[in-house]
Amino acid sequence: MTSPGSPTVVGVLKEVKGFERRVALTPTGARVLVADGHRVVVETGAGLGSGFKDDEYRDSGAAIAQSSDQVFDEASLLLHVKEPQPQEFEKFRPQHTLFTYLHLAAAPEVADALCRSGCRAIAYESVEVDRQLPLLAPMSMVAGRLATQIAASYLEARNGGRGMLMGGLPGVEPTTVVVIGAGTSGRHAAEVAAGMGAEVIVADLNLERARSVADACGPLARAVVSSAAVIEELAPTAEVMIGAVLAPGHRAPIVITRKILDLMPEGAVVVDIAIDQGGCVEGVESTTHADPVRTMGHVRVSATPNMPAAVPRSSTAALTAATLPYVRALAKGWPEAAASHPELLVAVNVENGAVVNPDVKDALGR
Ligand SMILES: NC(=O)c1ccc[n+]([C@@H]2O[C@H](COP(=O)([O-])OP(=O)(O)OC[C@H]3O[C@@H](n4cnc5c(N)ncnc54)[C@H](O)[C@@H]3O)[C@@H](O)[C@H]2O)c1
Repeated sequence: MTSPGSPTVVGVLKEVKGFERRVALTPTGARVLVADGHRVVVETGAGLGSGFKDDEYRDSGAAIAQSSDQVFDEASLLLHVKEPQPQEFEKFRPQHTLFTYLHLAAAPEVADALCRSGCRAIAYESVEVDRQLPLLAPMSMVAGRLATQIAASYLEARNGGRGMLMGGLPGVEPTTVVVIGAGTSGRHAAEVAAGMGAEVIVADLNLERARSVADACGPLARAVVSSAAVIEELAPTAEVMIGAVLAPGHRAPIVITRKILDLMPEGAVVVDIAIDQGGCVEGVESTTHADPVRTMGHVRVSATPNMPAAVPRSSTAALTAATLPYVRALAKGWPEAAASHPELLVAVNVENGAVVNPDVKDALGR
């Protein structure tokens, strides 16, 4: 455990939540922290799911711990990707600062465990700068890009699709992709579809936002104001629809109704990115990485809540690029970190045995 005045010991825990293959720090990130004068302790095998071997961390100057207990014992700043799991609950101590995705509103038992421990727990998703969520955005980017890849793959005949190439060919009609929601994930979905040569239509309640995404997608793209009537009109020629909407703090709005699914061409593909907020397709059920599509009428729908887990190496790189500046600040000590990055103050979800973030408190009814 770090003592006052000594360099911070930064601990990197292996993820224990099912199917989670990301890691909270890359070997390059470890090298940066070591160069800053800190000690980095990485649980053995923590990087394997993302393709990083223990030796790569050793080469970066990190020490490898043989167990999570050793990381909890030695480190004061603990890095994770997902919220603590029951087997970890009793390992947190008042000396620990935990930095990770927490989503406590959906996990009161995790909030209780962190309160009992007396640690300070800071949530990636609660870091807000200029009304943006910079530590959540990288995963929306990944999900958006993957959504188009998934759709392209399920248009293939071998996967039971319409047998269409996303971008068409010279002299052959391209696929039409309707992206509903022109935020972070929608922008990335639309850009990949346009890059593949698809005809892209971007729909959002906010026309300016839709226009800005369509502009970035080139001359084949256009923007529309989203409404049930407009999407119904687009449906008969939409071989792909991607639902990328978000109403902050609320369940996802239903923007793709059963009627719209029925209007789409046979063998069309829908990707519901918003499934982690309840889904934006009427009657949708979650899918998994092992079983990624369901048939609804004559259309197939993919709605996997943890899409970034499909590409852990890319997701880890995107996530750690965003978190590293905060990790470097936190490693300097809490007062310095809070002074240089005041957004961390609100991102503290649990401190001194209590839930302190106002939104999380509200959501948990405390
Ligand atoms: N499945 C996954 O693995 C995964 C990964 C990351 C993000 N997500 C989810 O994807 C969703 C989108 O995230 P984001 O970061 O792109 O959000 P964002 O806030 O950047 O963008 C959402 C957009 O939806 C628009 N919108 C809201 N209601 C609408 C409606 N009724 N019709 C049309 N447009 C509407 C908003 O104007 C906004 O432009 C969220 O639910 C998020 O939790 C899922």
